[in-house]
Amino acid sequence: MLLMIRENYEEICKVAAQKFADFIRKKPNCVLGLATGSTPLGVYKELIRIYQEENLDFSLVQTFNLDEYVGLPWEHDQSYYYFMKKNLFDHINVHPNSIHIPNGMASDIEQECLEYEKQIIEAGGIDLQILGIGSNGHIAFNEPFSSLGSRTRIKTLTEKTRQDNARFFKSMDEVPKYAITMGVGTIMDSRSVILLASGSNKSWAIKNTVEGPITARVPATIVQIHRHATVLVDRDAASELTDAIKISE
Ligand code: GLP
Repeated sequence: MLLMIRENYEEICKVAAQKFADFIRKKPNCVLGLATGSTPLGVYKELIRIYQEENLDFSLVQTFNLDEYVGLPWEHDQSYYYFMKKNLFDHINVHPNSIHIPNGMASDIEQECLEYEKQIIEAGGIDLQILGIGSNGHIAFNEPFSSLGSRTRIKTLTEKTRQDNARFFKSMDEVPKYAITMGVGTIMDSRSVILLASGSNKSWAIKNTVEGPITARVPATIVQIHRHATVLVDRDAASELTDAIKISE
């Protein structure tokens, strides 16, 4: 696992976007794993800039998002589909048929999850996955005590995660209780992962992810045994690290 610590949020976003851009240039028909939440926003902004100013071509790229709320239609402004369109897809030349996001309105959720796994395999697997992290150490919507071998499925959101995400909704009652999420095992099958974290509210999660024992209590700890994982954090998110060798490039 490569730990990279940068001064602030802007810097980690630049580094992550550059890694994505370099990868897309190397493999134009790559399969990207994408994430929502506030953290990747700066990365998407920078990727849009590189697309506009440096001709980065997404026309052959395929994308798979990590997760989606159950019960929110695509046009709901808090659905992850809406988020991705607004913050990335509407601004780049990715082909609409190449975008994959779990359908939280599917009548048969179990079937939807099986299909999603199948689609990832048919696309050749995910090359590069971007991950945020919840303040309790969740990745995608794999909450604490999720099986570390889990596949795409429906998960109940913890109260903590619902509270953390309540800022995007009018009231706590509107925050969905369930989500479809890639499993920890699905994420681990990606050929590379970049986990991003910014701010002191992530310092506990990052301390555990980097220095703690691997445990389902903190699902993100699994990245310690990923073959190509980068943990890219700013100073605040890194502030509780003690033992880890801090690499500053
Ligand atoms: C949600 C998403 C996660 C994301 C997390 C943290 O729970 N499902 O993928 O990592 O939020 O979001 P933020 O980056 O806004 O802190």
